[in-house]
Amino acid sequence: MTDPLWHYWVVKDGGKIVGFCIARYGEKRNILEAIHLLLHYQGQGIGKQLLDKALNWLGRSKDIELGVSEYNNYAISFYEKFGFHKTGKSLNDEMTVLPSGRVIPQIEMLLPSLK
Ligand SMILES: CC(C)(COP(=O)(O)OP(=O)(O)OC[C@H]1O[C@@H](n2cnc3c(N)ncnc32)[C@H](O)[C@@H]1OP(=O)(O)O)[C@@H](O)C(=O)NCCC(=O)NCCS
Repeated sequence: MTDPLWHYWVVKDGGKIVGFCIARYGEKRNILEAIHLLLHYQGQGIGKQLLDKALNWLGRSKDIELGVSEYNNYAISFYEKFGFHKTGKSLNDEMTVLPSGRVIPQIEMLLPSLK
């Protein structure tokens, strides 16, 4: 069944999936859940195309939030290019805890609405 609150984009090279992006509508804010490309496909403008699609689908009527590892400078710069900024908030949910128990520190970034 399709959930109208979620949208997935998949990047394929031939038959192989090489990247994806997931976005969802939230109550107060919309959310960019994930964006990921295999290493070989990074730095070629594909991430920009994916994020453009996600931002178009989400619209700008609500703030858009995302979580990113605090040491992922590449992704942080990438999001900043689109107008996201660090909110200063740390995120600690179950997704950031590895099976070993180690925690990957995640920070919140926000793209303000255009309302
Ligand atoms: C982060 C990610 C999605 C970016 O996608 P990408 O295809 O590599 O980025 P693009 O080639 O589309 O770059 C888009 C723009 O960001 C810029 N950019 C990319 N990395 C940058 C960096 N480290 N510093 C400054 N600008 C950067 C590019 O120059 C480009 O700008 P331009 O349009 O003005 O030329 C991709 O690298 C990725 O999947 N990384 C691994 C997974 C990851 O970290 N995901 C995010 C976790 S939340």
